[in-house]
Amino acid sequence: MTKAINRLRDYRADTAIILGSGLNSLVADPEQDLIVPYSKFSEIPKPSVPGHVGRFVLGDIEQTKIVFAQGRVHLYEGHPARDVTSIVRILAEAGIKQLIVTNAAGSLNPKFKPGDWMMITDHINLTGTSPLIGSANFIDMSDVYSPRLREKFRAVSKPVGMVLHEGVYAGCLGPQYETPAEVRMLQNLGADAVGMSTVLEVIQARALGLEVAGFSCLTNLAAGLSKEPLSHQEVLEVGKKAAADFAQLLTAALS
Ligand code: HPA
Repeated sequence: MTKAINRLRDYRADTAIILGSGLNSLVADPEQDLIVPYSKFSEIPKPSVPGHVGRFVLGDIEQTKIVFAQGRVHLYEGHPARDVTSIVRILAEAGIKQLIVTNAAGSLNPKFKPGDWMMITDHINLTGTSPLIGSANFIDMSDVYSPRLREKFRAVSKPVGMVLHEGVYAGCLGPQYETPAEVRMLQNLGADAVGMSTVLEVIQARALGLEVAGFSCLTNLAAGLSKEPLSHQEVLEVGKKAAADFAQLLTAALS
């Protein structure tokens, strides 16, 4: 048996994509021998949320090899920040140089509608923790979301004809959605989207020297901005529909 880490390493991909809620359709039905389950890695906790699978898929887009990380571990599942980010350390160990993170998020910006995509320009870590706790790793956090990659994705979004907003992602602990008062606070802090993932992974990725791009699928208006109550089901359904747009963006960027 080849060790699981060697299967990822031997694939020799430079790019990995972490897929968020509802975005799994980007890797439809991979062949069995292209799947490396998270369960092969003792350091990855088991995901426990419906709609979140847990596996790496050795895939490609436009002849570019990509390791997809399907499913992630969240802080709200009760795991420490270090465990939540084990997937990123494994990808770095496997030789990945560029990490694309995706998530489902609520829109805080009245101009950003459900179903639209937002390229993350910066984030606010409101989880109160860090994967770097325990070290004196004072990494620079300016330009965490690669200006080079942002320019590239911005350029291809126009010919693809997709709405690609740009804005700041606020990463909260969850698992409850925000109150309307918290939503007003996040708007005042300068955030455009709110979610429960991504920020810890990105901190870990930058600490390991990976180049990062991040995208939020805006699945709903944040609490209090619409009359509808929020539901996880809605988040998954909107994500599923918007996944096709994102696939087109990736294809254009990598071709
Ligand atoms: N808030 C937090 N996380 C989310 C939301 C939201 O409105 N939508 C999808 N993930």
